[in-house]
Amino acid sequence: MDITTNHVDRKAEIAAPFATSFGKSEGEDEGAVIKQLVSGMLGSVDAADLLVVSALDGGEVIGSVVFTRLRYPRDARVVFLLSPMAVAPGWQGQGVGLALLQGGLAQLRGRGVDVVLTYGDIGFYGRGGFVPVTQDAAAAPLPLSYPEGWLGRNLVRSDPVSLTGPSRCVAPLEKPELW
Ligand SMILES: CC(C)(COP(=O)(O)OP(=O)(O)OC[C@H]1O[C@@H](n2cnc3c(N)ncnc32)[C@H](O)[C@@H]1OP(=O)(O)O)[C@@H](O)C(=O)NCCC(=O)NCCS
Repeated sequence: MDITTNHVDRKAEIAAPFATSFGKSEGEDEGAVIKQLVSGMLGSVDAADLLVVSALDGGEVIGSVVFTRLRYPRDARVVFLLSPMAVAPGWQGQGVGLALLQGGLAQLRGRGVDVVLTYGDIGFYGRGGFVPVTQDAAAAPLPLSYPEGWLGRNLVRSDPVSLTGPSRCVAPLEKPELW
């Protein structure tokens, strides 16, 4: 398995596993929504605000994680949001997700990112050092339907995440139904 951050030439190939993977776990409609979200992110978010890390097997994309800038205008720290991520159904449970998570965090650290937040299952993201974060400690950009899934980790320090003021996500994520 190889890990790459080059998404420019393989946008459709990166989006496809999101449809099959979320389609299997959440239903076909949700798979289509997430695939469209990923296509929108890859097609419209500024390069400086986007990091896509993909796992390849024999040159074929088998899973990806998408990170986008989450702006806290009243806080000097650089924050990224991990969302979404998916591993193709036939490749799940073989360490691909963990490799993507660790590869992505290493990339962000190298780019000077201070804090990473995500919205999902602590059972998986806890393996990457994420812990639950309250909305007082880090405001979510839109109201959360599942606040227990708001997770974060500092990349440069080991103290708990604590960010000042409201936040704003990239445009493709500005949809209440995604939160
Ligand atoms: C969640 C997902 C990305 C994990 O990828 P993966 O390649 O299957 O994960 P790994 O094989 O690296 O698993 C790493 C560890 O996390 C555990 N794990 C995986 N998915 C988990 C989940 N949803 N909940 C709890 N633990 C999970 C594994 O059991 C494994 O533990 P182990 O090392 O003790 O065996 C993948 O299953 C997926 O695409 N799921 C559907 C889409 C989704 O839910 N995406 C995440 C929300 S944005």
